[in-house]
Amino acid sequence: MTLKGRDIVNIGDLSLPEIDTILDTAKGMVKIARGEERSKILDGKILSSLFFEPSTRTRLSFESAMLRLGGGVITIAGQEGSSLIKGETLADTIRMADAFSDVVAIRHPREGAARLSATFSENPIINGGDGAGQHPTQTLLDLFTIREELGDIGDQHVTIVGDLRFGRTTHSLALALARMGTSMSFVAPKIIQMPEHIVNDVREMGVSVKITNDLKKEVDHSDVIYMTRIQKERFAEEEDYRKVAHAFKIDMDMLKDAKENMIIMHPLPRIDEIHPSVDPTPHAKYFIQAFNGVPTRMALLKLVLEGES
Ligand code: CP
Repeated sequence: MTLKGRDIVNIGDLSLPEIDTILDTAKGMVKIARGEERSKILDGKILSSLFFEPSTRTRLSFESAMLRLGGGVITIAGQEGSSLIKGETLADTIRMADAFSDVVAIRHPREGAARLSATFSENPIINGGDGAGQHPTQTLLDLFTIREELGDIGDQHVTIVGDLRFGRTTHSLALALARMGTSMSFVAPKIIQMPEHIVNDVREMGVSVKITNDLKKEVDHSDVIYMTRIQKERFAEEEDYRKVAHAFKIDMDMLKDAKENMIIMHPLPRIDEIHPSVDPTPHAKYFIQAFNGVPTRMALLKLVLEGES
């Protein structure tokens, strides 16, 4: 089945061969993403960039991706900049974006909003993060980063750390890694551990997963440490947030027995989970990871608009 015209709402919408196609296409786009080569393959196409929740990386890298491929971008950044604030429905907003452009990237605070949007749009809808649901394009760039830095994704042990309850990036990533046979550790305090339905799905795929609250024990045998921010904005009770805020920190002391080739990733933004002294070490890949959002989203835009040819 072609990717042309497809909605990308959940990482499960993509088969493993389709994920490979996206990552291979992304690799061929790195020079264009860096501005070292020019492309006009999406000349005349328009992206609606609808971000109803704050974003730096996802919005800017989607927009950069479209512009680097010769296309155009129209944007809503924040509900207050749109007629949603006057009471217009999401359905009508999506109908407008569908009329004005060829593809929509949407971030929304409500889980399920991207899937709902897809029912009102003829053109492809790409989920840029829906509440505590999923963030499939983040997962694609995470997979691209692991593959580029370490090789075969299935051979790695990935330790995912932090807010696994609300962290949508961790949900999409765990499900994708499980399909690739990657063993994992989930490190979090009990109240923000990985949702049970995701742990069950991962285990049903036959993948080994350790549930723990002890980061130090996982660092030394991991190939990837995937840090995440504790998402203060998603806690109903501030008291619960305070109990787990600042729960995990990677610093130089934590890394002294780490594998030489171990990489540290983070979807960003970071608060205090990774000490800045780690930034110059060869372990730190989170800024390269963020850049990888551009070629990965270029690949996705090209494939949903033009297909594989
Ligand atoms: N990784 C990520 O989604 O970052 P933004 O919230 O800045 O888009």
